[in-house]
Amino acid sequence: CGIVGYVGEKQAQDVVVGGLRRLEYRGYDSAGIALVVGGSIASAKRAGKLANLEKAIVDSPLPESTAGIGHTRWATHGAPNDVNAHPHLGRTGRLALVHNGIIENFDVLRTGLEDAGHELESETDTEVAAHLLEIELGSGHDLTTAMQNVCRVLEGAFTLVAVDAEDPSCVVAARRNSPLVVGIGEGENFLGSDVAAFIEHTREALELGQDQVVTIRRSGVSVTGFDGTPAEGRRYHVDWDLSAAEKDGHDWFMRKEIHEQPRAVADSLLGRRDAAGLLHLDEMRLSDQDLRDVDKVIIIACGTSFYAGLVAKYAIEHWTRIPVEVELASEFRYRDPILTASTLVVAISQSGETADTLQAIRHARLQRSRVLAICNTNGSTIPRESDAVIYTHAGPEIGVASTKGFLTQLVACYLLALYLAQVKGTRYGDEIAEILDQLDRVPDQIQQVLDGAEAVYELARQHTETRSVLFLGRHAGYPVALEGALKLKELAYIHAEGFAAGELKHGPIALIEDGLPVLCVVPPQGRDQLRDKMISGIQEVRARGARTICLVEEGDDAIGPYADVLIRLPKVPVLLQPLVAVVPLQLFACELATAMGHDVDQPRNLAKSVTVE
Ligand code: G6P
Repeated sequence: CGIVGYVGEKQAQDVVVGGLRRLEYRGYDSAGIALVVGGSIASAKRAGKLANLEKAIVDSPLPESTAGIGHTRWATHGAPNDVNAHPHLGRTGRLALVHNGIIENFDVLRTGLEDAGHELESETDTEVAAHLLEIELGSGHDLTTAMQNVCRVLEGAFTLVAVDAEDPSCVVAARRNSPLVVGIGEGENFLGSDVAAFIEHTREALELGQDQVVTIRRSGVSVTGFDGTPAEGRRYHVDWDLSAAEKDGHDWFMRKEIHEQPRAVADSLLGRRDAAGLLHLDEMRLSDQDLRDVDKVIIIACGTSFYAGLVAKYAIEHWTRIPVEVELASEFRYRDPILTASTLVVAISQSGETADTLQAIRHARLQRSRVLAICNTNGSTIPRESDAVIYTHAGPEIGVASTKGFLTQLVACYLLALYLAQVKGTRYGDEIAEILDQLDRVPDQIQQVLDGAEAVYELARQHTETRSVLFLGRHAGYPVALEGALKLKELAYIHAEGFAAGELKHGPIALIEDGLPVLCVVPPQGRDQLRDKMISGIQEVRARGARTICLVEEGDDAIGPYADVLIRLPKVPVLLQPLVAVVPLQLFACELATAMGHDVDQPRNLAKSVTVE
């Protein structure tokens, strides 16, 4: 969900709706706003996208106000309808509350409230918190104290933001295991799920710790623990600018982000070599000795980030000879994994807020393993709770389906693998330098793929009637096939599956029928054993009627007779091939989905950052 809060001199409605627009990628099942207006609360909420709320407040305008809160929801408790939308107003209408996360003991709390005569309107856990806050306010506490008292009885993960009709001077928020940042302005202050909420107004931000309550007023910001003891946040400057959060002439954020990949990859590589040519990772807070002691790596992640982890396994094992396991974060802690002090856990997360990944790293740290985060969001929870971090420099990723986030994660994984190889001495310096040189050429090679986008778009537009697509790959091309299929599912709602090409004959080949499109990622020349096996696989599916669309290195002609369509890739070593091979698959999915009339920035049922387990 996306959360916004504002107090200052401007019209709160404009600031809050503007913030929600930038946060809409976090959830778009419903949206709502509440303003403090002369002793009462004015509010509006609507199911569906933010546009529905915007229309509602044009049709019946809300009064002027300088303090307000807003919410864009990704439903957890209760269907995404008008009643369940936030804000929740409690019983007397004195209070408005928005909430992100899940209050785990809400059933018990709800029963307690109902026994005490409270009638709850919605099915949400949020309304329970609203009633509890109202009781506290009714017994004479101010909103800050009320928030502290209520947070102490709540279990689970939550961000709460509230306003009190009787005190227009402040907005109060709290967080536990759920994102919230403060924007520091002059004569005005802001709250947001992330900095995109207020970047239009200020680039000064305050990071909050766990279990803290923050009160923003025009004149300043104060932070306490849930027990009321004063606390301090960490001030930082946001180096993203507003244009980075806008579409830049593209029809969709996703398309813009695909085209930003050469820059994003270059930025993620920048400044990683010192004067002696050695690889150097700034934010790597683990000592060389710690890294030399590592005898096992476990990578945990979700979604697209998980596929980056699968590629990392090939690179880390090949370059360092350290065994690597890759595991879905949501499975990890529930299977009692074997972790020791010499296990390095690598958590990959674009947002840094994914609850499954966060809980997995907490579990790992309890077992004394070290955790290194690969993350795109400075100051987010996952890097903060990790022992070390490699930041990717993709800039804000707004499209829900990850693109530049994925490529920069791959870069960070390669850097980590090479750094481990350097520290452990498993590869010579020249060899590492040569791979880094090769990586430095990749941004231009990605640009080359993007320059050929029109042919991929044309191909995509031929497939709008297709109901199923298969993707095949081997070695590092296998995770590429998985990611290609995921993109198509997410964006075009088409059944798509990625397979390891060698596994085809063990089952999936039964799916092949006349005309079925099969996208094949062919390993580069020079890895002939791999490549030849891939070519056999392509022949097998083609013989059964598949339409083969082959991603092949330039100059490789062996595949010609078996490919119905050829998409050329620049020459890169097999381990780095995902950096160029995934790009046509992103373009394919994006164009196919838009040609079908879908919203690729906000695909149905998905959210950019899923902060519930
Ligand atoms: C959500 C998004 C996916 C993303 C996954 C992991 O499900 O819709 O696109 O890959 O979360 O996100 P993270 O921010 O942890 O990389």
